[in-house]
Amino acid sequence: MEIFDVYSLLDLEPVKAQGSYVFCDDGNRYLDFYGGHAVISIGHSHPHYVDKITEQLNNIGFYSNSVQNPLQQQLAAKLGELSGYDDYQLFLCNSGAEAIENALKMASFHNGKSKVISFNKAFHGRTTSALNITDKDAYTAPINQSSEVVFLKMNDLEAVEAEISQGDVCAVVLEPVQGIGGIRLFEDSFLQQVSQLCQAHDVVLICDEIQSGFGRTGKFFAHQHAGFKPDIITLAKGMGNGFPVAGTILSPDFEAKHGRLGSTFGGNHLACAAATAVLDVIKDEQLIEHAAQIGGQLLDALADLPQIKEVRGRGLMIGLEFPFPIKELRHRLIEEEHIITGIASDPNVSRLLPPLTISEKEANQFATAMQNLLTEHQPQ
Ligand SMILES: Cc1ncc(COP(=O)(O)O)c(C=O)c1O
Repeated sequence: MEIFDVYSLLDLEPVKAQGSYVFCDDGNRYLDFYGGHAVISIGHSHPHYVDKITEQLNNIGFYSNSVQNPLQQQLAAKLGELSGYDDYQLFLCNSGAEAIENALKMASFHNGKSKVISFNKAFHGRTTSALNITDKDAYTAPINQSSEVVFLKMNDLEAVEAEISQGDVCAVVLEPVQGIGGIRLFEDSFLQQVSQLCQAHDVVLICDEIQSGFGRTGKFFAHQHAGFKPDIITLAKGMGNGFPVAGTILSPDFEAKHGRLGSTFGGNHLACAAATAVLDVIKDEQLIEHAAQIGGQLLDALADLPQIKEVRGRGLMIGLEFPFPIKELRHRLIEEEHIITGIASDPNVSRLLPPLTISEKEANQFATAMQNLLTEHQPQ
């Protein structure tokens, strides 16, 4: 049997990883400014994380959601405390797309409507409802067009108001900082006003924090920079530092009924151990404050490079827009500087999503490497 060939692969084969580094079979060590696609939050193979998962596996790795599992409540309590959402409720699942499916389903159960407002360049995952609200035709099969969705321009309040005033909108879904779309930020004032509009018209506001959450932007959730509370928040990626775990957080207004949501693997013992260990490290090592500080310094250093058209982001979620496609630059970063970076849907944008643990020295190493390559770069 062969692997179904759907990924464009880098010529790298990691065999070990530690902290901010990935060690490949070519004998080289690479600085990970991609974080395995925004997944590595507390650094690779953090000792506390390894210990907690190992300890859990030696006790019990899995049992179904038909028995008591106090680890879920322990995780929810820690998440509530660290995120400031201690009065919200957590449903655990396994991937970002699932977290979005559950969010949309609960929104629709809640107000009985089905039309969704999404935004240009949004990415929410590859299951049916998630793809329906993702702005990428190439990924969407006819069967994914499951309900009415409108894609609006980011920060266009009038357009949101016009749609919502029609009375048939179930939910507004947005990534407070768009990830795959190229690290594009919603304005704080726009988010605050959308939140008010949603409240006034019985529309559920869903913040997709799958990429921007878990401290990456220098707050636990990116929307907290704007100081409002959405009705539902989705989580994944950094939540498990590589262990597949995801969640949908719902405000107290949502009533839980047995059978409405469910998952075989969601919230299993190992997943809870992994996610709880991540929260322990985020708290103990003050990684949210660290991400804000190092990210701020890095944003400033990169903004000084004249070859970059625009530097965008918050904390350690950074997008660099160049006046040329970055494909060659990305390969040169890997081959000459041994640094891995991410891409975005815009071929001119480089995405930086390092572990939240990166040191000032590693951030400087990245800025210097970028400067070196750009000084030599002759855009075609
Ligand atoms: C903002 C956002 N939402 C949803 C998803 C989908 O997550 P998953 O691949 O875990 O299904 C992603 C993945 O990149 C994402 O960045």
